[in-house]
Amino acid sequence: MLAAYAARIDATDPLSGLEVAERPEPQARPGWTTVSLRAAGLNHHDVWSLRGVGLPADRLPMILGCDGAGVDPDGNEVIVHAVVASPGWGGDETLDPKRSLLSEVHDGTLAERVAVPTSNLVPKPSDLSWETAACLSTAWLTAYRMLFTNAGVTPGDTVLVQGAGGGVATALVQLGSAAGLRMWVTSRDEAKGAKAVEIGADRAFASGERLPERVDAVMETVGAATWSHSVNSLNPGGAVVIAGATSGDAPAKAELTKIFFKQLRVIGSTMGSRSELERLAKFVAQQQIQPVIDSVHPLAQARDGFARMVDGDVFGKIVFTV
Ligand SMILES: NC(=O)c1ccc[n+]([C@@H]2O[C@H](COP(=O)([O-])OP(=O)(O)OC[C@H]3O[C@@H](n4cnc5c(N)ncnc54)[C@H](OP(=O)(O)O)[C@@H]3O)[C@@H](O)[C@H]2O)c1
Repeated sequence: MLAAYAARIDATDPLSGLEVAERPEPQARPGWTTVSLRAAGLNHHDVWSLRGVGLPADRLPMILGCDGAGVDPDGNEVIVHAVVASPGWGGDETLDPKRSLLSEVHDGTLAERVAVPTSNLVPKPSDLSWETAACLSTAWLTAYRMLFTNAGVTPGDTVLVQGAGGGVATALVQLGSAAGLRMWVTSRDEAKGAKAVEIGADRAFASGERLPERVDAVMETVGAATWSHSVNSLNPGGAVVIAGATSGDAPAKAELTKIFFKQLRVIGSTMGSRSELERLAKFVAQQQIQPVIDSVHPLAQARDGFARMVDGDVFGKIVFTV
């Protein structure tokens, strides 16, 4: 079957290790189901994998991809949950110390077929398109948990999203505005800020710009480049929810004094549970949210989508059709 996979690790030139070519079919195993994928989404995680972050060379070749939607052997339309818990684990899969994401230990979704634990399949609401369903498993699920499980915000509160163009950032804006939150964004690019306003943000600011008032929560995936601004932007008692560090995880200043003096909450957030993915899919269908899609590419041309993400010139999700 056709697949996009990591053949080699290169920390500085991730695209050099990407191959789009034939791979063996997934092996049947008890308790697992093989899904025929219709669409799959790209995440920054896939680029990190090609750089060797979370994917050691001794596991190669590895099919990439955490997002996917397709049809199970009984003809049911399903969305794939990417967090694979260890056998016998009960409860929130993201808290299992032995969990992995698809494409870290087991082959991922950038392929014609993928095998996953049967319990990782979530029903796809019939009115979601394949492209929409393929956006939800990672960036959108992460955004859902950040906002609705971890931030402690309620309709009417103001939430700052650091970054405007990324998959997580656009998901945060679309989910938050649909839920009655006032969403503000920052961006290095004025045009991306303007697009964020078009999809539901209330206002956009330049990266690092002083805000007209403090916010109730900050959604942080940029990391070092925006950390001090995130801490400075919060109301006393506010929360910064951190789910990524695209620009690095060593900020020039940790801001410990401001964190304790303003009694801020710093909350780590990773992916979401299977039940959160099911609720996210229902919410997107009920609210008729159309996830912003940067570009759609046939799987055979997956390299084009990877190149767009590596260049950083992205607004919304990159989707591959199978
Ligand atoms: N914890 C989890 O479960 C989880 C899940 C998904 C993603 N993540 C992480 O979250 C981050 C974003 O993921 P994504 O898929 O949304 O990635 P992406 O599509 O590549 O987005 C990158 C984002 O970073 C922003 N950015 C701002 N300043 C930056 C800088 N100095 N350097 C680079 N980027 C900067 C960009 O905003 P502008 O271009 O508008 O400035 C954009 O919104 C990644 O680090 C990813 O690994 C974590």
